[in-house]
Amino acid sequence: MASIEINPLPSAPFGVLVSGWEPAEPLARESKQKITEALHQHRLLVFRGQPQPTDEDLVRFVESFGDPIKGSEWFRNAGALPEILPVTNIRGKNGQRLGVEGATDLEWHADYSYAATPGKTSFLNAVELPPEPPRTYFTDMYEAYATLDPKLQSRLTNLRATHSIADYMAEPDKDFAAKVERDEAAGIDRPDIPEAEHPVVVHHPDTGDAILYVSRGITRRIVGMERDESSALLKELHLHATRPERVYGHDWQVGDLVMFDTLGTMHRRDAWDPSKRRLMRQLSTACII
Ligand SMILES: [Fe+2]
Repeated sequence: MASIEINPLPSAPFGVLVSGWEPAEPLARESKQKITEALHQHRLLVFRGQPQPTDEDLVRFVESFGDPIKGSEWFRNAGALPEILPVTNIRGKNGQRLGVEGATDLEWHADYSYAATPGKTSFLNAVELPPEPPRTYFTDMYEAYATLDPKLQSRLTNLRATHSIADYMAEPDKDFAAKVERDEAAGIDRPDIPEAEHPVVVHHPDTGDAILYVSRGITRRIVGMERDESSALLKELHLHATRPERVYGHDWQVGDLVMFDTLGTMHRRDAWDPSKRRLMRQLSTACII
């Protein structure tokens, strides 16, 4: 049995490169431990060079690290395995959506921060890429918190913020009401307008480490604060968190699996030529914060 090997990720402010993963084999206890420790320490793992996992392999791997969110049910009502959310601009034979669409750039966010039980760890796998694949950028929100001025850190204590994708959902999914109806009929439990309130500083459930938990794409407002003051504070935090020296830009290769601490990082994606096909598989585990 091959063993997992962990090496530095060249010229990245955080993250490591992982080789030796065998997707078709059950994950050995030592490998799981090695991966978990690396994730706690480095926040982001790039698995490269392994055979492409099947859908079942991918779900089994993710299940070793927590309870998968049924992403496919959140955003649509089909899909072979509900844990896998296709992120793609490819359409089905009858023109139907195959998952989350859109080739425009995607703003900084943490997956499922708009859910009451947000994403803990996320997994993104490249299945098909356009000739000039868009980069995905990651920033470390532990580092962002740790490097804030102590006065600002104490100002954030006990603050809460709202996270919402109501605007986002309304735009691409014109028949959102019909979708809600289908979800109800199928017994899928999901808020009509996906939004949630979370502390501005959260602690990772495994390590207790402090995380600055706001993002430009999804955090809407600091609870109980005047709109102008809230916007100014969120802007200041955002600029601090996304300083270029803290950002890792991932250049995708087909087969890459990037596993990342989605509670403790934020990510964004560049736009790409919408006439070119791109297919990613996305999975997340959930947590209580
Ligand atoms: Fe994401």
